[in-house]
Amino acid sequence: MSSPEPLIGVFDSGVGGLTVVAALRRRLPRASIVYLGDTARLPYGTKSRRTVLRYSQANVDFLERRGVDALVVACNTASAMALQDLDVRTPYWGVLEPGASAAVAAADRHVGVIATESTVRSGAYEHAIRRLDPGLRVSQQACPLLVPLVEEGWEEDEITERVVARYLEPLLRDRIDTLLLGCTHYPLLRGVLERACGPAVTLVDSAESTSREVERELGKDSGVGADGARSPGVRLFATDAGPRFAKLAERILGEPVALELIDVNGSYGQPQEVEGQ
Ligand code: DGL
Repeated sequence: MSSPEPLIGVFDSGVGGLTVVAALRRRLPRASIVYLGDTARLPYGTKSRRTVLRYSQANVDFLERRGVDALVVACNTASAMALQDLDVRTPYWGVLEPGASAAVAAADRHVGVIATESTVRSGAYEHAIRRLDPGLRVSQQACPLLVPLVEEGWEEDEITERVVARYLEPLLRDRIDTLLLGCTHYPLLRGVLERACGPAVTLVDSAESTSREVERELGKDSGVGADGARSPGVRLFATDAGPRFAKLAERILGEPVALELIDVNGSYGQPQEVEGQ
């Protein structure tokens, strides 16, 4: 891959995949990014493999029609359940393998994985970690309440502290030394998670490790120039969204966003404006 300013397509079931985009922006500031949040069909984290694959393929087709040079499946659930069966023409990455490698690099002996129900059920993180290091112990915990808490903007709320403490209790009792954040939304809970885990547990985030892999492949051509100039940035599409999506997107990216609505299965004509933006 050698285009000096590649167009990278990124999709997730919702807004959370923008944590991967934020990491990509830091590493590849000159790359243009087109992001699709499939908010109309969120959550993926409770759905079957067949459904997640069907939705993911529609997202891939939509992004490829927009002429992307490379593609990132930012959704952990889609990476865990659908990645190997997707029909993709460009180079592409999921977040699962990079997250698993980062966990193996950080871990001493016991990795805790927190993720959606579907990701946990797939066992994909456990397999990926144990394939890299069969000596590591892996314990998983599904945390279905965390995505809605983030979507509600309650990252630093007392209720979130209590929910996190409850989910982590069995993992901490079992003395994990590394916690892999296996869901797009969880990097936004890093503060609460760090406080709950304490200094003995290392937190690993697949957004950061995925962007490192993409940077390695796309090369330094897209890195910060001498003037530190940024590309025109991120074009944001969603399949359904209200003002809350745009607010959370701005918080994650740290820059103003303009959101366009699109139907991935229907018309590829004019994107529509979001009400109340
Ligand atoms: N994007 C999903 C993931 O990373 C979380 C939200 C959902 O369940 O769709 O697993």
